[in-house]
Amino acid sequence: MPDENAHQKTGQMNDEFIREYYPDFERTDKPQQVDLSYEPQRMMTFEEIRQLDEKYLLQNYARMPVAFAYGSGEFLYDTEGREYIDFLSGIAVTALGHAQADLINAIHHQADLVWHTSNLFYNQQQAMLARALVEINFPGRVFLCNSGTEANEAALKLMRVHGQARKATKYKIISLIDSFHGRTFGAMTLTGQEKIHGGFGPLLPGVVYVPANDISALEAAVDEDVCGIIIEPIQGEGGVLPMETAFLQKARELCDRYDALLCFDEVQTGMGRTGAYFAYQNYGVLPDILTMAKGLGGGFPIGAMLVAEKFAPELASGMHGSTFGGNHLGSAVAYEVIRFIEAHDTLNQVKKSAAYFRAGLQKLQAQFPDIVREVRGMGLLVGLVLRDDIEARPLVGKALEERLVIGRAGHNVLRFAPPLIVREQTIDRALERLARLLATL
Ligand SMILES: Cc1ncc(COP(=O)(O)O)c(C=O)c1O
Repeated sequence: MPDENAHQKTGQMNDEFIREYYPDFERTDKPQQVDLSYEPQRMMTFEEIRQLDEKYLLQNYARMPVAFAYGSGEFLYDTEGREYIDFLSGIAVTALGHAQADLINAIHHQADLVWHTSNLFYNQQQAMLARALVEINFPGRVFLCNSGTEANEAALKLMRVHGQARKATKYKIISLIDSFHGRTFGAMTLTGQEKIHGGFGPLLPGVVYVPANDISALEAAVDEDVCGIIIEPIQGEGGVLPMETAFLQKARELCDRYDALLCFDEVQTGMGRTGAYFAYQNYGVLPDILTMAKGLGGGFPIGAMLVAEKFAPELASGMHGSTFGGNHLGSAVAYEVIRFIEAHDTLNQVKKSAAYFRAGLQKLQAQFPDIVREVRGMGLLVGLVLRDDIEARPLVGKALEERLVIGRAGHNVLRFAPPLIVREQTIDRALERLARLLATL
């Protein structure tokens, strides 16, 4: 017979342990009870949220002093109801804006049917999403997961298994300096930034970093022992830095010559952000592996790796997996994101708004020649490079005070990733706020 009071006993036992180990700890509410007094209908004040965060969450993020309560299209509203223009999209995630009606319908519909059944079973939503991703890209196979870092872990395992099937010493992977591929151990090692590695060593063996766009350094680094090259066609976190076509072509050529796999990490650049579904399509250089996440679910966590057909059998049954990866909810929403992009000609819209935004930023550059060095990026992933001695971080905070949500990439680059549905009138308003901000420098 199950003991009906088991949970209470566990609670008592916990309390005894807790008293022993944390003599100063006081529960905020009645003992042995979880405080569930939060009601979703009641919006907490910013101060209430901040206090809970600082007491209960791992303090691994440097947060800005705002909590958003809801959003609509290109706008976010904080707990006090103040409106912000969202030119960050949750770091290139909410690609179709907030509270997009078709996505809400898709998630409601799927939520009524089934959320999760695991990868032990076939799954209609996964199958439909995979077909769409292949049709958008190239003949291949899709592995679904939950985040960008996981997509890159899958890519890393595939590159390694590809190398190991050929010879024991073929495990070297080439990555780029200032790249960013994620925070799990493999993806962190692929990331070419010492500040991300700091304190976690030893890292995975065999990863070699070369400078972006340096063709001779790339050529010098690649040999028979290389099993893969991983590149962001536009470095996102590293400063919104586009690769040159010749550099990507050289990477393709070297992979072909040395039987290595070319992986493009399009976690940030994918799903229409650059005016093509994926940035590599603007370059005309095909990868063997394509990783994606962020915009894929329009805000719902989902990631994917697409592998060219001829290499797909190398990750065979039982060699990789994920419990949540591609669950019904996530796959249904991602499918709807693609359906929306097709139905609304979003890629062309992105090209138009990107040209409009860039022209506006170039005007700002002309207006503030001592402050703005360069406007760079592709489509609606744009970096405003500031003078080398100007730190971007405090400016992001000041922009927030101007009710403009933007990001930072590298120490002196302001990063913009507005939703793909951004309208010219909203771009105008954002540019006005940005001009006010630059004028304070
Ligand atoms: C290019 C790139 N790859 C991988 C990642 C990691 O994605 P996630 O945070 O979903 O693990 C990011 C996140 O910023 C990214 O920009």
